[in-house]
Amino acid sequence: MPVIAVIGAQWGDEGKGKVVDLLAERADVVTRFSGGDNAGHTVINSFGEFKLHIVPSGIFSPRAICIIGNGVVVNPKALCQELDMIKQKGIDVSRLRISDRAHLVMPYHLLLDDVEEKSRGEKAIGTTHKGIGPAFVDKVARCGIRMGDLLNAQAFMEQLRFLVDQKNLILTRIYGADPVSAERIYDEYAEYGKRLAPYICETTELLDEALKTGKLVLLEGAQGTLLDPDFGTYPYCTSSSPIAGGASLGSGISLNRITRVLGVFKSYCTRVGSGPMPTELKDSTGDLIRERGREYGTTTGRPRRCGWFDTVVARFSHRINGFTGMALTRFDILDTLPVIKICTSYKVDGKTVDNFPACIATLEKCEPVYEELPGWQASTSNIRQFKDLPSAAKKYVERLEKLVGCPANLICVGPSREQTIEKSSVL
Ligand code: GDP
Ligand code: IMO
Ligand code: MG
Repeated sequence: MPVIAVIGAQWGDEGKGKVVDLLAERADVVTRFSGGDNAGHTVINSFGEFKLHIVPSGIFSPRAICIIGNGVVVNPKALCQELDMIKQKGIDVSRLRISDRAHLVMPYHLLLDDVEEKSRGEKAIGTTHKGIGPAFVDKVARCGIRMGDLLNAQAFMEQLRFLVDQKNLILTRIYGADPVSAERIYDEYAEYGKRLAPYICETTELLDEALKTGKLVLLEGAQGTLLDPDFGTYPYCTSSSPIAGGASLGSGISLNRITRVLGVFKSYCTRVGSGPMPTELKDSTGDLIRERGREYGTTTGRPRRCGWFDTVVARFSHRINGFTGMALTRFDILDTLPVIKICTSYKVDGKTVDNFPACIATLEKCEPVYEELPGWQASTSNIRQFKDLPSAAKKYVERLEKLVGCPANLICVGPSREQTIEKSSVL
């Protein structure tokens, strides 16, 4: 059975939650492998509408084991709130597992995220203020606290005292902020520890067992390739690896066992937060896409910046991730447009560039070169077969496949699970 990594191919919010929910109907295990509650994954199915930040989007499948992998940073308060919300809607959460190696987001990480962003002034990254960057900094600086540590009260208190002393120096002396109290954090986190203890375990063995017995495993990405700290628009990026390589690292599934990499692309582009986005539309077409698509952040409610599909970005993303197929989401949002543009290359200082530049200053100078296609100006949201799409819509899909060099497996024509066209098999 395949292991399918579902990867955000642009700047996040591509519709990974919807795609994972759809594929999870057939899956035995669904593992989140990166990010934290900076993610906001929308799922609309027969149970209702959910905005999941940390629980894997496979939780609605009655049989899938859902794992929060070692590569995720967990805010236990946010997780407990999310579990309450899901349980209230009658969903069984006993199939949740949390890697004992996953790091904790601590209250001082949230404070540091705020003061660091403020200190960046005009160069603020536009983070989600969920403490994600500071939590990953502590992980690589080897002073993070992990989920497994919550299960050992004495060791947890010792680590916490030492770290809180350090963080208070930074908070008070560098940023002039208020200090935090180790005792108060201990009391709060000890309660989360008690509540989450039944879910915390070693998860690589569980995954290995699933693979040995031929189970279907999904690796659920968060964020998107252009937010990757190595390949994204650094420093305007996140702090863990949303790419296919990160799926192995953040789950403990070896690279050679990942058999499919599904790239989730919006049928146009959006970005929330700061940093370059060459095809951004700062005109009425951009406003129209934002309003028609209700493009406001799932986690922060911020308006998303909207623009045309960028195949320079998409080819780069394909190169980094090795997609076996694409899921093109939000196709229906383009239904009313008379003309649809596709960016095929950039012009920088009069020269043609078709490789995504690393340098922010260069990216800011990139002027997109567009190809224009006629719109289809008809509703696609009730169409379920590729052959039934208007011919201009089919041409748009086929042109993207050609320019990106990757087949479209799925075309999503609405937010709910069934509003999906399977053009070719994901498996
Ligand atoms: P994620 O972070 O990648 O899971 O994406 P988000 O949930 O943050 O944002 C995607 C938004 O698009 C959500 O509001 C989804 O309900 C919605 N969505 C997903 N696919 C489609 C689609 O094909 N059409 C429409 N209209 N909405 C979609
Ligand atoms: P999903 O999984 C879109 C962006 C933030 C900011 C940058 C850094 O829903 O696709 P961070 O809080 O991670 O330090 O913020 O990354 N960002 C996202 N943008 N979707 C997301 O997740 C995002 N997670 C982080 O807006 O620009
Ligand atoms: Mg999102």
